[in-house]
Amino acid sequence: MARIDPAPNGAAVSDGIPSKDRHPLLPAFLAQVLAALVVGALALLAAPALLGQPLFLAALQGVLALLIAWRLGAPIWWLPMHFCFLPLAVLARGMALPGWVWGGGFVLLLLVFWRTDQSRVPLYLTNRRSRDALQLQLPAGPCRVIDLGCGDGAVLRQLAAARPDCSFVGFEHAPLTWAWAWLRARGRHNLSIRCGDFWTHSLAGYDLVYAFLSPAAMPALGIKARTEMSPGARLVSNSFAIPGQVALDVIDVADARKTRFYTYDCGRSQ
Ligand SMILES: C[S@@+](CC[C@H](N)C(=O)[O-])C[C@H]1O[C@@H](n2cnc3c(N)ncnc32)[C@H](O)[C@@H]1O
Repeated sequence: MARIDPAPNGAAVSDGIPSKDRHPLLPAFLAQVLAALVVGALALLAAPALLGQPLFLAALQGVLALLIAWRLGAPIWWLPMHFCFLPLAVLARGMALPGWVWGGGFVLLLLVFWRTDQSRVPLYLTNRRSRDALQLQLPAGPCRVIDLGCGDGAVLRQLAAARPDCSFVGFEHAPLTWAWAWLRARGRHNLSIRCGDFWTHSLAGYDLVYAFLSPAAMPALGIKARTEMSPGARLVSNSFAIPGQVALDVIDVADARKTRFYTYDCGRSQ
């Protein structure tokens, strides 16, 4: 069940996402359909000869879709996708691949990226150097650690192997990613990979919470952490800071992508 929390700025958030951003696919759909209708109608009524040039019409539709999406306030990085969508579909159709390739590709992407349109947290992985840096953040004694959205589980597998005295939990909602992480965790006594939505799981009792999410999820994660985490527990966020909350520590990882860890003391003792 979705948690509804007040965001720091007063806007409602559900599963970490401000309510106004919950359905980004609707304006995208509107921009594409409107542009297709306008270009299709113009071609039919004013220049039927253009109907024989589908790529040209698709490019026109792309320009119009881009403009409509821009007017609807789409994020800037969506605009090239709006422009390319129909032209690429026309080109792909020319490849005459069997229908199952497209259906299979869609299902595969869905199983890995799941409802990224709602969670706004796609799959990208913590690299080796960052995993090593995270390992150094573990408390010296036995502890409980959770990875919120554990992806392929590589972070937890490394930590669980390095620290048999600690127990590790990972939550993942994308079915294929979860299945992979779960399979590879089998036989490890101190590692549990669970399928589900981490927003519904309490952070109480964990000594270290690890999150590699996205800017969209950080306001609600800050609230969840402050509300649920135990005194003295630490939240380590890879790359994304909690807005309006001062980090206890900021750690620069010596890797190519210049990863930065933000560490927060979110326990109720604050
Ligand atoms: C950026 S990846 C990080 C993966 C892994 N923690 C790592 O650092 O390598 C974020 C992951 O969180 C998952 N995720 C996003 N929202 C989630 C949710 N509400 N519940 C469970 N998993 C979620 C995504 O499917 C994705 O696999």
